[in-house]
Amino acid sequence: MALEILGVLLHRNASEITPADGGPSFDMQMIGQMARAFDDNGFDRVLILQNSFAPDPFAIAAHVSAITQRLAFMVAHRPGFIAPTMAARMFATLDHLSHGRAGVHVITGANDHELQCDGDFHTKEERYRRSAEYVQVMRAIWESDKPVDHAGDWYRFNSALSELKPVHGAIPVYWGGSSPLALEMGAQVADVYAIGGLKPLAQMRGTVSQIQQAWAQAGRSVRLQTSVRVILGDTEEQAWAAARDVVEALREKGLEQKRQIAGTGEAVSTAMRLDPKLSTTKGGSGRDELEAIAAGAELVDKRLWNGITRASVEFSTPMLPPALVGTADQVADAMMDYYRMGITGFLIRGFDLYGDIALHGRELIPALRQMAAQHDRVLQNA
Ligand SMILES: Cc1cc2nc3c(=O)[nH]c(=O)nc-3n(C[C@H](O)[C@H](O)[C@H](O)COP(=O)(O)O)c2cc1C
Repeated sequence: MALEILGVLLHRNASEITPADGGPSFDMQMIGQMARAFDDNGFDRVLILQNSFAPDPFAIAAHVSAITQRLAFMVAHRPGFIAPTMAARMFATLDHLSHGRAGVHVITGANDHELQCDGDFHTKEERYRRSAEYVQVMRAIWESDKPVDHAGDWYRFNSALSELKPVHGAIPVYWGGSSPLALEMGAQVADVYAIGGLKPLAQMRGTVSQIQQAWAQAGRSVRLQTSVRVILGDTEEQAWAAARDVVEALREKGLEQKRQIAGTGEAVSTAMRLDPKLSTTKGGSGRDELEAIAAGAELVDKRLWNGITRASVEFSTPMLPPALVGTADQVADAMMDYYRMGITGFLIRGFDLYGDIALHGRELIPALRQMAAQHDRVLQNA
């Protein structure tokens, strides 16, 4: 099974606990430092987020591709704002600029009001159907040497063509969203399904089997990825002390956000708009599941801890899935329980975006790669 390690590249060094005055809001120097650190520390790919107010992820990816050697991209991209024929050419161009490192993460969007900021008034159901057709069109443009005509439910065009083809023949298509229609539509077009965060193993097994069923029904295979929050320490005690510090920082952050909203009625924090009506994640179907996790046992399985999930509910910060807390080896071992159920992509993130890259690269990623290789060898010899 091919393990893929991903990170998140933001346009500033920020996380859910960074104070509002924590450095420039668009930090070119930091983008370069982070990109090189990901490239040098064993990360395969980075997610670059998109929403209706943040800097453009496509331009950031193009810049980063020029200053890195091997780091690939998962560029979040919202269908519905440009023609899919144009998007196909943009991704083919990025793929060539980066020598085959482009990847598209199709974002259908959770919050109707937030999408309306860019003029999209469709419902989520309509958006998911449109996203599927959008990817079909992009694939047709990437694959065809001849001009393509198309008359679908959402798009109509004649003689569309991209002179550039993807370097490796195709560009990987990632897909997020946990509602039933997200699975049904994703199964028709996507290569990788991105699960938003960890959940208890028993629950994750259910999710994995739902995804696999959806893809099997569509007659396609799927690679599985999950986001993983980690809180590490040199010893287990240090890790738990760090976890408590994160909760304290979330409390502070919640208070800061309340003050900001009371003062201006609006604020932006770590790629989130704080006006609850415009929050990027509002309306996402994963929220109920996270609230149930927040209300459940504090520690489940080997070391899955819901302290940050509870704190994010209690202090009204952006909603956080539970984290793995422990030493790098302990956390890698816990991640292997997800790998064994078929999840091969791990989007790893702590709470110090830049500082954690080297830490994860030094200890966690090598440990995980070693354990995964060992697991694969045992499977091959069985
Ligand atoms: C790894 C990952 C990255 C995501 N990145 C973004 C993003 O950059 N912008 C955004 O608006 N939504 C992002 N999402 C959210 C989803 O793609 C989706 O729009 C949302 O979960 C709502 O879908 P649902 O209600 O079907 O769950 C991301 C989701 C995942 C799993």
